[in-house]
This record gives sequence, C-alpha cells and structure tokens, in this order.
Amino acid sequence: MSAQAWWRDAVIYQIYPRSFKDNNGDGIGDLPGVTSKLDYLAELGVDALWLSPFYRSPQADAGYDVADYRDVDPLFGTLADFDAMLEGAHARGLKIIVDLVPNHTSDEHVWFKAALNADPASPERARYMFRTGKGEHAELPPNNWQSVFGGPAWTRVEGEDQWYLHLFDSKQPDLNWENPEVRAEFEDVLRFWLDRGVDGFRVDVAHGMIKAEGLPDFGQSQCMIEGGNVGPMWDQDGVHEIYRAWRRVLDEYDGDRMMVAEAWVQPQERLARYVRPDEMQQAFNFDYLLARWNADALKRVIDTSIMHSDSVGAVPTWVMSNHDGVRHPSRLGLADPGCRPNGLTANDEQPDEALGLRRARALIMLTLALPGSAYVYQGEELGLPDHTTMDAKYRQDPTFHRTNGEETGRDGCRVPLPWNASQPAFGFGGEQTWLPQPENYARYAVDAQLDQSDSTLALYRTLLTQRAEHALGRGRIVWNETGRSDVLSLTNGAITVVLNLSDRDVERPEGDVIVESIPGIGNGQVVPANSAVWLAC
Ligand code: GLC
Repeated sequence: MSAQAWWRDAVIYQIYPRSFKDNNGDGIGDLPGVTSKLDYLAELGVDALWLSPFYRSPQADAGYDVADYRDVDPLFGTLADFDAMLEGAHARGLKIIVDLVPNHTSDEHVWFKAALNADPASPERARYMFRTGKGEHAELPPNNWQSVFGGPAWTRVEGEDQWYLHLFDSKQPDLNWENPEVRAEFEDVLRFWLDRGVDGFRVDVAHGMIKAEGLPDFGQSQCMIEGGNVGPMWDQDGVHEIYRAWRRVLDEYDGDRMMVAEAWVQPQERLARYVRPDEMQQAFNFDYLLARWNADALKRVIDTSIMHSDSVGAVPTWVMSNHDGVRHPSRLGLADPGCRPNGLTANDEQPDEALGLRRARALIMLTLALPGSAYVYQGEELGLPDHTTMDAKYRQDPTFHRTNGEETGRDGCRVPLPWNASQPAFGFGGEQTWLPQPENYARYAVDAQLDQSDSTLALYRTLLTQRAEHALGRGRIVWNETGRSDVLSLTNGAITVVLNLSDRDVERPEGDVIVESIPGIGNGQVVPANSAVWLAC
C-alpha cells in the first residue's frame, strides 16, 4: 500500500442506482443512466463513485439480496453497460467502488435453491445457517434472535424440522462463513470484479458474518445501541481473518484497490480493528453520521475518529447520509436532530426545511475541511431533503412490511433524483418513478442550481475544488479557542473553518473569507446563526 494511495483523501460519491438516473424510461435508474451523468460527477469534483448493488436480484431488499454476484440485473442493464460505465468513469479520472454483500445471499441464489432441495445434513445446506428448531415438534426457532428488519431471524423450511437464519429479510439467508467453500467463492467474486477493473469494494454488514459459537440466545434486542450493533451475531473476532484473506487478494492487483467496511461497531477502538494494516483500508464513520448538532459532540467524534484511525495507520472517514437513514438536511431540521436511523412519516414532527438546509450547508463546510476521506450521498450536493410525507401505499422497504408499518423504513432517502425542474419526473426518466417524488424536489433540481452561484451545488463544487487545491484531505487539524461552547473553529493548513452552531450571530475572526455557507458573510463582521466560513490564514 503506498502512502500516496488515492483513497487516503478521496471524496467518494455514493450512487444508489435505482434512484440516480433512469435511461430506459421504466422509472428505475440504471447503469446507462449513471454513464450519462459522468460529466456531471466529474465536474462536481469527487474522486470516486461507490455504487450500491446492481447485481441480479429479486429486489426484496432493493438489490441487497443478490442472486448472482457476477451479473448485472436486467433492471440496471448488462455487464457491457457496466464495462462502459467503468471505462467512462476511468477516462474522467473517477474510481469505481462496487458493493459486496457477503453476509447473505438472496433466497433465489442457486446455492440456496439447491440447499432447500437437499438433505438436512448435505453440503448444500452447510453453506448456510440451517438448524433444527426447538420444541417437541421443532415448532420453535433455534434461538431468540430477531431480524434487523423486525420479526424473528429464523424461517422454518416447509414440512421440515430445520430452520434457516436471516439477520435481515427472510429472502436474505445468512451464509455460513465457517465453511471454506463460502470463503473460496467470495475470493473468486472479488477477483471477477477486480479483473474487470474495479478500484474497490464497499463491504455490506462487515461486522455480521461470523456468529458466536453455538448461536446463544441473546438477552436484549440486537438493534442499534448508540450506533453500534451488539450481540452474539455482531463484531465477532473471527471476521478479521476473512478480511486479511481478502486483503491478500486485493494486494495481488495494482492500483491501490481498496475496501471500506460497513460495520456498525462501537466504540471506535473496535472499529479501528477493521482497518488494521493487513485488513480493510477504510470503515464508515457512523459516529459522525449520528452526531447531534452540538459543538462538543462533533468535536469529540472528530478527535476520537482521528485518534483511533491514526493508532492503526488508517485514515478517518466522514459520512453524513446514506441510503439507510433520514437525509441529513431533514435530520438537522428537527427540534432534536439526533440519531434517526429510520424514516419519518407525515404524522411525525416535520423538519424545518429551511433550517435543515442551512445547517446542512454549514456542516459540509466542517466535513470537507477534515483530513481523510469523505462520503457524499447522491443528492446531498443538491441539499435534497428526505421525502418525509410519503404515503404508506408506496413504501417498499422490507422494514416497513416486517413491522406492519410500525417502523417507517428507509424509502424517504431513496427517492429518485430531480435533474430538471420542468420535465416529467423532474427529468429522472420515465413518467412514473419507482418511489414518488415530493413536489418540493423541483426547487432542488440540478438544472435549477447549475447557474446559481449561491446554490448548494455551487457550494459543493467550490468546497471540493478548494479542498483539493489545499490538500486538506492530507492535512492535520488544530482546534482554535472560540470562547463559546456552540462555535467550532479549526485550522487545517491554509484554511480555518468557523462553524456557528448557535441560533445567534457570532463575531467573525480576522481573515479573508474564501467560502461561505450562505451568501454575504464575507461582507459583514459576523458568522450568522447556523452557518460557517472558510477563511484563508
Ligand atoms: C446494509 C445495507 C442495507 C441493507 C442491509 C442488508 O446495512 O446498507 O441497505 O438493507 O445491509 O443487506
């Protein structure tokens, strides 16, 4: 691994293919749609694209249920479309990261279909987590684990004593990672995409693949506890051996190929284990995503993230939104903008849209001033809010259905992007998008922002240019005393950022304003409430 590796300071843009751009007019985004917007992405100034799954899949969990790891689902195009997209991205200097979903397959994967047709003691079943049920007639699940999406984590095989484990939907059976055949298969899948030229992998549920010996009952719900999953199914030491083996595969290839862990693990010491020198290169920093709009909380997360990634020679990452939680402009517009892993409904407190956007624009000023790698979720550069009032009849997230609507699910952050305010479906493609777009998306459309010097899109472009120019991703930060508990200031090389998290104006320190989160700060003497500046120092 070279010290110059591209991912050490890369800004990585997450594409959720279903909702990025639809080229064939069926209302669902596709790979040719991505290719058609590569110029837009290159001009935005990001370094790499991470694509959520586009593999063959019955789409029970929007593609995170993979039926064939080596093919593109016809919904999204073909392998040739993938190659064209990759080539187009590389031609523009953009790296490509694909999503790897190793914890579970789809129940329509050939392996699982074969397992269901085979004997309980067969090698086909040994690829998954089949167990005999409890009770006189095996009528009870083998243990008390719950699915992350709600309901039991076990489904009984029809007419049999055996049950299979699924930490997510019943259409996502967990693989048995103690089985060497499973390990060999995934190393081969890695090579398949590495040979095609991908630059890296985002590893789904990286903390879930090994389960504690004997699958013991778990006393509490294994759901998130302050941002980390806890229980005998999460963060078991055995997962690291898998990543060390994968790392050896990646290191056979040139070009600093990388892996980034989706691991909901706490505390940061535990997370740092995923990015030790012989494991993955990055792990998503969900503590940052979950941090409240509070100076102390942000400062603490930043310091601990840098400290723990430094301790293993890795780089910190910064992420504010993804396809699994309420978009941050909407979170930040709530009276209590804390952890919201789940969606909002029309019956919930509705976010203050203007305040949320203002804070989001201020927060990206802090985020992009930090050293390491940053993630941008598609539409974030437009300031896009969540669809917070989506009618239940449109909801597709399995979480919504498995909890009988008790949990809203994640559809609100997965709504197709608005490209053109005056076209049908705001220029997404087709007439009817797979999830409905709220009316306010017209205001956020790309074409409405492109020529506006004070748009959120323009702000992102400026910040990304300045970040690259001043090599902030390779820098180090020093905190400055602000004399206030609700104002943060730090210096990274030639840039000082001041973030005012309070509801009052504060005095602006000396220095030329080179970027401002809202227009006009440079003309005044203050940093207004809920805003930020970059000053040259
Ligand atoms: C990850 C994905 C999420 C998916 C789940 C199961 O958390 O980000 O979208 O539902 O894994 O694969």
